[in-house]
Order: sequence, then structure tokens, then C-alpha cells
Amino acid sequence: MTASYDPLLRKIHWATAVLFIAAMLIGLYCGLQPAGTSPRRELLEVHKSLGVTLFFLAILRLMVRATTVAPSEPSSFSPLVRIVARLNHWALYAILFAMPVTGYMLSSAGGYSLRYFWTFSWPHLFAGNKAVERAGEVAHGTLAYLVYAVVTLHIAATLWHVVVKRDETLSRMWPRASRNPS
Ligand code: HEM
Ligand code: HEM
Repeated sequence: MTASYDPLLRKIHWATAVLFIAAMLIGLYCGLQPAGTSPRRELLEVHKSLGVTLFFLAILRLMVRATTVAPSEPSSFSPLVRIVARLNHWALYAILFAMPVTGYMLSSAGGYSLRYFWTFSWPHLFAGNKAVERAGEVAHGTLAYLVYAVVTLHIAATLWHVVVKRDETLSRMWPRASRNPS
């Protein structure tokens, strides 16, 4: 039985973690700034580019996840912890798709820039569709609260397992972080 996730899935997980937290913090900052001001405008370009990158990484990740074997949950996990961890992972996967899709709906229908890291532009498939713009805006802004809660829980739970429980949770995603160096 495998003790850790597939190496490619682990690489995607940590790349996602860095890019996602950057996108989330930039989004949070931009959401607090008045529309049309600088540096909100420039930072939103970076935010959207990170978001689109995360979307493609999520597709790749799902394919890797579906075709590889995940380690079975640590035996120290109680039934309740197992359920909460599974729900948390499902929610994270849902967010990885829902945030880019709703962000794209809002920006594409609203006619806002969709330039990818100062290069080409993604097509505006919903141009001028006010209903799609509004739905994207409301969903993106509302889901943002779920993002803060679910990601905070995920990171706090990891810290709890590493610092307090000192079990194998982190080594499943980062095998070199051995729980028993001696
Ligand atoms: C995983 C990917 C993404 C995450 C985690 C994310 C997260 C966020 C967060 C937390 C906010 C602040 C919400 C608020 O305070 O109202 C935000 C705002 C925004 N996001 Fe995203 N986002 C992602 C992807 C995208 C994508 C792909 C686009 C567009 C292509 C996009 C476009 C926007 C826009 C335009 C805003 C500003 C909304 C406003 O202030 O009216 N986001 N995002
Ligand atoms: C500093 C940030 C992060 C840390 C320390 C961290 C840590 C971990 C650890 C230790 C695991 C393995 C848990 C287990 O197997 O029971 C894991 C799994 C997972 N993490 Fe994270 N994570 C971070 C950020 C993120 C972010 C930002 C996302 C997505 C938005 C994410 C999504 C997932 C998912 C979906 C799994 C389940 C494994 C899978 O099916 O891919 N993580 N994380």
C-alpha cells in the first residue's frame, strides 16, 4: 500500500498551494479597492492570469488523481476526522473549478480584460450578457467567503497534525517531511 500521493500530484498540489494563496490574497486586496484605481487594475490582471493557470492545473490534477492510487487515511484518524478531511478535500476541488469559472463569467460578460500575463487575450465568450456577468459577480464574491474558511481549515488542520498530533499527515503530501527522523 502506498504511503504518499503520486509524485506528480504532489508537485501539482504544492504549485497550486503557492499560486492559489497568491491569487486569493490579491483578490482580497483588489476587492477592497475602488474600481478603476491603480494598483487594483494591474493586480487584477495578475489575479485573473493566476486563476486561469489554476484552472488548467486543476484539470491536470483531476486526471492524475483519477489514474493514480491515493494513500489510505492514517489509522490514527477517527471516523469524524476522516469525514471532515474528505469533505474538506472535496470542497477544495470544487473551489478550484468554481472560482476560475465564475471569475471568467464575470470578466468575460462584463467586457473586462482577459489578457494572460501580458501576452494574448482569452476570448470573451459571454460578451455583453448582463445576466452572466451578474451571476458570475455574485457567485465569485460569495464563494470567496467559502474559500477563506475552507483554505484556513485545511492549513490549520495540517499544522495541528504536524505540531500537536505529530502523525504522518504531512508526509503523505511531502514524504521528505518525515515524522520520525531518529
Ligand atoms: C482559483 C482561482 C481564483 C480565486 C481563489 C479567486 C479569488 C478571489 C477573491 C477572494 C476575490 C475578492 C472577492 C471580493 O472581495 O469581493 C476575487 C475577486 C475578483 N476575481 Fe477572482 N479568484 C480566482 C479566479 C479568478 C479568475 C479566473 C478571474 C477572471 C478571469 C477572476 C476575476 C476576479 C475579479 C474581476 C475580481 C474583482 C471583483 C470585484 O471586486 O468586483 N478571479 N477573486
Ligand atoms: C500552505 C498551504 C497548504 C498546506 C500546508 C497543505 C497541506 C496538505 C496536506 C498535508 C495534504 C495531505 C492530507 C491527507 O492526505 O490527508 C493535503 C491534501 C490536499 N490539499 Fe493541501 N495544503 C495547502 C494548500 C492547499 C490549497 C491552496 C489547496 C486547494 C485550493 C489544497 C488542496 C488539497 C487537496 C484537494 C488535497 C487532497 C489530496 C488530493 O486529492 O489532491 N491544498 N494538503
